Amino acid sequence: MNIQGQAALVTGGASGLGEATARELARLGARVAVLDVNTALAEKVAAEIGGIACACDITNTDSVNAALDKAAAAHGPARILMNVAGIGSAKRIVGKDGNAAPLEDFVRVVNVNLIGTYNISRLYAAQCAKLDPLEGGERGVMLFTASVAAFDGQVGQQAYSASKSGLVGMTLPMARDLAQHGIRVCTIAPGLFATPLLKELPEAIQQSLAASIPFPPRLGKPSEFAELACHIVANGHLNGEVIRLDGALRMAPR
Ligand SMILES: NC(=O)c1ccc[n+]([C@@H]2O[C@H](COP(=O)([O-])OP(=O)(O)OC[C@H]3O[C@@H](n4cnc5c(N)ncnc54)[C@H](O)[C@@H]3O)[C@@H](O)[C@H]2O)c1
Repeated sequence: MNIQGQAALVTGGASGLGEATARELARLGARVAVLDVNTALAEKVAAEIGGIACACDITNTDSVNAALDKAAAAHGPARILMNVAGIGSAKRIVGKDGNAAPLEDFVRVVNVNLIGTYNISRLYAAQCAKLDPLEGGERGVMLFTASVAAFDGQVGQQAYSASKSGLVGMTLPMARDLAQHGIRVCTIAPGLFATPLLKELPEAIQQSLAASIPFPPRLGKPSEFAELACHIVANGHLNGEVIRLDGALRMAPR
């Protein structure tokens, strides 16, 4: 799909990998809606890229519908949905105090990362399926953002890894399901990227994380994620696939 002139939605577009993706889409000529719970940051990014900010909690169906409506009113129906919003967590299943991890933590992470992504994807897909097909019968493209933790989750990452491997598992059936509508679905599983989350860590920890990456031995740049996300949109034969973007990193147990 040619990105130029398309309307695009980016969840988590106010920060980190989502922000970089929103900027790259805009650079390539898309009309970009930045969907995020952080409305102040979403407004800032949207203003800088000539896009629109839409307050959106992906776990809340009313909120998602309102954001999809606002984006469509401003830019027309979207052909591109970049699901980048997500949250992290680290909790041992049996804590140092001997108590079981609180269930709420697991539910919260799975609810945002997996169920929230599914929620906006299903609502978006139903709208996209009604659009006229483009050349070759294509109607739209969806991206999920997993993590290498879907495959090699570390100690304490049960909730995060479960949520991200859920996205990995959903990729092929979603692509098969939406094939009849001409909508492609792919997933990127990033390794370690220099987003606000990691940049807050002490410099020494950042350096040791970077050194654990075989090549290149540095944190990934959000722009590298954004380039792959946009390539997935542009390359019409990429579908139903999960791509690790990690410099050959395999996470150690801890
Ligand atoms: N940074 C990394 O190294 C890394 C590695 C692997 C996977 N990831 C994944 O990439 C994605 C982006 O990570 P990041 O590092 O850019 O994080 P980030 O915290 O910088 O950005 C995430 C954005 O998602 C938004 N968000 C959170 N919950 C939301 C909700 N319910 N509805 C709408 N928006 C919501 C946040 O407000 C924030 O703007 C996440 O899914 C994360 O799990 C990141």
